[in-house]
Amino acid sequence: MGIEAYVDGRFVPKEEASVSVYDHGFLYGDGVFEGIRAYHGRIFKLREHVDRLFESAHTLRITIPMTREAMTEAIVETVRRSGLKDAYIRPVVSRGRGDLGIDPRRCPRPSVVIIVDTIQLYPEAAYQNGLKLVTTSTRMRPLDVLNPRIKTCNYLSNIMARLEVNLAGADEGLMLTTHGYVAECTADNIFVVRHGRVLTPPAHLGILQGITRQTVLDLCQTLGVHAAEHILTLHDVYAADECFLTGTVAELGPVVEVDGRTIGSGKPGPITHRILKAFRDLAAREGTPVYAASGVPAGE
Ligand SMILES: Cc1ncc(COP(=O)(O)O)c(C=O)c1O
Repeated sequence: MGIEAYVDGRFVPKEEASVSVYDHGFLYGDGVFEGIRAYHGRIFKLREHVDRLFESAHTLRITIPMTREAMTEAIVETVRRSGLKDAYIRPVVSRGRGDLGIDPRRCPRPSVVIIVDTIQLYPEAAYQNGLKLVTTSTRMRPLDVLNPRIKTCNYLSNIMARLEVNLAGADEGLMLTTHGYVAECTADNIFVVRHGRVLTPPAHLGILQGITRQTVLDLCQTLGVHAAEHILTLHDVYAADECFLTGTVAELGPVVEVDGRTIGSGKPGPITHRILKAFRDLAAREGTPVYAASGVPAGE
């Protein structure tokens, strides 16, 4: 049997899974989503992702028509039915079906979709050789316009930035705040290492508070590596000894060039490698088990 998607309480073959053309997620990007990974039959940081999904929806006043526990179970069940041990999971909750006006009051019930598939962002060579970044002219949307902490289905500024990355032939794009501070990448958070200290832009600057970012901050503590949130300018990035980006799909992606400037030695750095290894070890042993038969207790 092929992979099935969860659509409003039903499991449908993924090729047939669909929502209405009147869904405001489709018409206006009015919705929220998550990107989650399963490793070896365990879903990594599931509670954190479900919490972020519900918090994003709460701010947009989208009432998800199920409890956090039911959402968690629906995600686990969708993965279980896929038979996949390593998977990428995409829960999406949109405002739901309405009419052709933007008024959310015309959408009586949010739509809930869960897609499970496989995904790879960068080839393994990128982890060995490192990624090239360019700074995009598209800035982060200001906090008082649409807070980037809300993981909404409206990714157009990131996509505008991604178009610039593609034009430049780079791997990822670095986005700045309207004041010129380093914020994050188009689909990842950013870290630099300088004089043995691991630094990342503060959450209050207006970035997505990545779950991988938080995992890295926690891992640094375990590893005894100094890590902190810090305001960064492009100069700090160019002058860094090491640089890496973090995200559910990318995990930790070493960065070796930004805007034509070589970072550090021009090769993925030792601290990046150390944290990446610790991250992969953690992801391999922790998480919500999907298959009861695995018999391995949850690590969280
Ligand atoms: C804009 C943006 N920043 C950062 C991240 C990384 O977040 P996480 O580690 O929770 O996947 C993502 C991932 O979806 C993203 O889209």
